[in-house]
Amino acid sequence: MISVRNLTLDLQTHEGSRRVLDDISLELADGEFVALMGANGSGKTSLARCLNGIYLPTSGEVNVDGLDTRDAKALPEIRRRLGLVFQNPDDQIVAPAVEREIAFGPENLGVPRPEMRRRVEAMLKLFRLEAYRQQAPHLLSGGEKQRLALAAVMAMQPRHLVFDEPTSLLDYESRCQLLELMAQLVASSNPFSVQPLTLLMITQFAEEALFAQRLLVLDHGRLVMNSLPREIFMRVDALQQIGLHPPIEFLAHHESPEHPIEDFLLTPIL
Ligand SMILES: Nc1ncnc2c1ncn2[C@@H]1O[C@H](COP(=O)(O)OP(=O)(O)OP(=O)(O)O)[C@@H](O)[C@H]1O
Ligand SMILES: [Mg+2]
Repeated sequence: MISVRNLTLDLQTHEGSRRVLDDISLELADGEFVALMGANGSGKTSLARCLNGIYLPTSGEVNVDGLDTRDAKALPEIRRRLGLVFQNPDDQIVAPAVEREIAFGPENLGVPRPEMRRRVEAMLKLFRLEAYRQQAPHLLSGGEKQRLALAAVMAMQPRHLVFDEPTSLLDYESRCQLLELMAQLVASSNPFSVQPLTLLMITQFAEEALFAQRLLVLDHGRLVMNSLPREIFMRVDALQQIGLHPPIEFLAHHESPEHPIEDFLLTPIL
């Protein structure tokens, strides 16, 4: 379980200290699939960085499975449990070849070699990277890099995954495939572990947030909405004020009496 209590984060800029997150409290239950939205600069990436201790709270606290990010001794275990896939895959890819990149995390965790090989092969297959195993990551396309970054994090078998705009570099078909995969990862059919994965997915696509069980909305560093996606998307005016829009198709169906929202939600659009 991930628990954030009264989290405030001030960061230093050239103009002095700047409040980036303001008194945020939230909880993510194990196995929950939660989306996080907010306009550019609202603090989404900063919140993700707080969850695995890259940023430490100015005040308040962040706990992952009861481990406090302010406890330096707990940080390696927090990062083993909570995988963070960065917004820009170039920020996290370190190895000279695709399969080395996937092996890097498990190696650091001391995973025995046969198990490590098994995980690398499983990830190459799952993320459709088999043809690129010897390839230098910087030669991959943006979408392939995004898949590689996810494969590398999943190879460490985290309990919780924070995914910062996973589909920003993907084309339509790859977005659909990745979302299906995400849905699989959080379901009990998760092929990697007996325990379902907790997933916090930051996204700029309202249609993607419809896949989540819950939606969090940030505005200028404050958590202003925390509810079912469908409930939030009905608050069209409030969303517009903070620079967000419901999915277009959702509005169309919502306004038409012969298509109740329930029908619509059974066939997520992408
Ligand atoms: N290391 C830093 N130092 C100073 N200011 C920062 C730092 N990181 C982020 N900020 C500022 O904090 C605010 C929130 O940034 P953040 O990257 O968390 O937003 P975001 O919601 O992820 O935006 P986007 O949708 O563009 O990815 C921005 O105003 C940003 O300029
Ligand atoms: Mg961001």
